[in-house]
Amino acid sequence: MGAEKKTNRLLPLTAFFLLVLSATIPCVFSAANQSPTYRKSAQLQKFGSSAVFPLHGNVYPLGYYSVSITIGHPAKRFDLDIDTGSDLTWVQCDAPCTGCTKPREHLYKPSNNLLGCGHPLCVAFHSPASYPCKTPDDQCDYEVEYADHGSSLGVLVNDYFSLKFTNGSKLIPRLAFGCGYDQKINGLNTPATSGVIGLANGKASIVSQLSHLGLTRNVVGHCLSGQGGGFLFFGDDLVPSSGVMWTPMLHNSFQDHYSSGPAELVFNGKSTGVKGLNMVFDSGSSYTYFNSQAYKELINLVRNDLNGKPLKYATEDQSLPICWKGSKPFKSVGDAKNFFKPLALSFTKAKNVQLQLSPDAYLIVTKHGNVCLGILNGTEVGLGSMNIIGDITMQDKMVIYDNENQRIGWAPTNCKRLSKS
Ligand SMILES: *[C@@H]1O[C@H](CO)[C@@H](O)[C@H](O)[C@H]1NC(C)=O
Ligand SMILES: *[C@@H]1O[C@H](CO)[C@@H](O)[C@H](O)[C@H]1NC(C)=O
Repeated sequence: MGAEKKTNRLLPLTAFFLLVLSATIPCVFSAANQSPTYRKSAQLQKFGSSAVFPLHGNVYPLGYYSVSITIGHPAKRFDLDIDTGSDLTWVQCDAPCTGCTKPREHLYKPSNNLLGCGHPLCVAFHSPASYPCKTPDDQCDYEVEYADHGSSLGVLVNDYFSLKFTNGSKLIPRLAFGCGYDQKINGLNTPATSGVIGLANGKASIVSQLSHLGLTRNVVGHCLSGQGGGFLFFGDDLVPSSGVMWTPMLHNSFQDHYSSGPAELVFNGKSTGVKGLNMVFDSGSSYTYFNSQAYKELINLVRNDLNGKPLKYATEDQSLPICWKGSKPFKSVGDAKNFFKPLALSFTKAKNVQLQLSPDAYLIVTKHGNVCLGILNGTEVGLGSMNIIGDITMQDKMVIYDNENQRIGWAPTNCKRLSKS
């Protein structure tokens, strides 16, 4: 749906979440103080399994990755945008609805399953001081607003989620989520999905709920294929025992986001002096964002490096802010990548840990055959000094958000191959 070139400019932050009517949810599952032997002990046997889901979508032209989840009784399937930048899962809801984009028969219909405002998840989701709960049976309202100014308003409900585990079991736990009956859509950007699955580390997120129920460890990960598709998992079954680069997770910097310690930008293996970048890993963002300063440095480096190469600006291509054309149209990033140097983010706190950005991790080729820079100016979209690692940069890697051990990891992976096995 977002395939029109104009709308793509607005797509990036579809599901990146900036504001909720809630306080920061404290990290109740912090394992930071536990000794490393903790997870190797009996605890590991208690959670024998992970839940895995195939993904659909791509960075370009769609601009999102989504998972199909079966919810309710009778069960219905909902296609949800995967978002590690926010906590709340919500689906378009027939309550009735304003701003729903799906036909009525594809909306979620609540039936006597509203969460009361005294429910621990409602309390956790809201700042108790700011949310009046007169009688515990009153409904629990929510509102989420995303960085692209889209929003969803509704009530919290709970219902059955069908989950398939790696050990072969099928379970249908009841999980809390939002029934969104009032969506505001940002301009041209009509979301193609039925809602959002919130995967951040607040108590209300699906990851925390599954872990709290004792079904999986408090770990979530994804593998986004550059050819489209991939998979999503809850629990740590699929996490390789070696070959993963880990960096500590920072807390309380940007609410419940998965952010890493400061990183330095490396261009073609050389230090650039662009330091102190706090990076948020956000699957709800299609592109990567640097703050204005770092962005400026980056485009200078790329520009200087392209000097004398047969690439010209393609200002007529509105797909993204900076595009170039070659002597003939490019068919894929593979055709253009030789003109570009690899980048890396070097995490200062974790020695020798780098996130490599080969040209595929920061360029797209548009339907007009031009190559465009997929790292954008975050200051321009109101992110302030925040930097975001979006889908483009996480492609073809397994990215693991390990809330048990407070770390974020990644490992090069063929996401297409694993998703089929
Ligand atoms: C499979 O894993 C699930 C979720 O962790 C667990 O509840 C279930 O008991 C396991 N089944 C078997 C047969 O071990
Ligand atoms: C990034 O965006 C900010 C805010 O709109 C703007 O002031 C700045 O010039 C932009 N930086 C570059 C290099 O375009």
